[in-house]
Amino acid sequence: PVPFIIAIDGHSSCGKSTLARAVAGELGFIYIDSGAMYRAVTFYFLKKNIDLQDNEAVKAALDQINIELKAGQEGMQVFLNGRDITGDIRKMPVSNLVSKVSAIPEVRDKMVKLQRDMGKKENLVMDGRDIGTVVFPQASLKIFMTADPGVRARRRYEELRAKGLAVSLEEIHKNLLKRDHEDTTRAWSPLLKAPDALELDNSCMSREEQLSWIMKKIKERL
Ligand code: C5P
Repeated sequence: PVPFIIAIDGHSSCGKSTLARAVAGELGFIYIDSGAMYRAVTFYFLKKNIDLQDNEAVKAALDQINIELKAGQEGMQVFLNGRDITGDIRKMPVSNLVSKVSAIPEVRDKMVKLQRDMGKKENLVMDGRDIGTVVFPQASLKIFMTADPGVRARRRYEELRAKGLAVSLEEIHKNLLKRDHEDTTRAWSPLLKAPDALELDNSCMSREEQLSWIMKKIKERL
């Protein structure tokens, strides 16, 4: 049978992964955070000091990268060449550079291939920026999520502070506006709503309300 694929795209920090994980849990589907894959590449480029303008260096670096995703107790764990980098990829140095790295066509090519392979056999929920438009245009259900930027900044701030990270609300707000801008204006696979995606603005919705909204849409399609 053809896998049932749920694609969740949208702006930065609007709760895509929280909703995607909840839906996957409810349905017993695999959950894939595609942003974590771009963050893992970014982490490697930062560590190796790769010049993003140097196409040969970028391509050589990509050949050295092996990314593994594992379902851990506290969500998905990300391994880069065998090393657990789950915590590192959420920090500001990676957040500040990831949109530049993910705008490189060779980077996208490699990630999209890996993502499509994951969707060949099993039912899954994947969140990102181009999942419904590029990675799985045939997805069974496509959601485009958004929320007021102030609401998004506050949520991300509270999440990072709860993890003990010293961040300011202002730098988070700036970072997400910058990523929204870079993600929507890049030449390759910009963030855009697929014509057949359903829009979900969750500025004023609880997690429970979002989950029941999406479960209703899924049941209509099963
Ligand atoms: O989802 P998250 O905010 O962690 O993604 C980090 C960055 O990775 C995004 O700002 C975007 O630049 C990039 N990304 C992408 N395509 C995806 C997922 C993420 O370009 N499918």
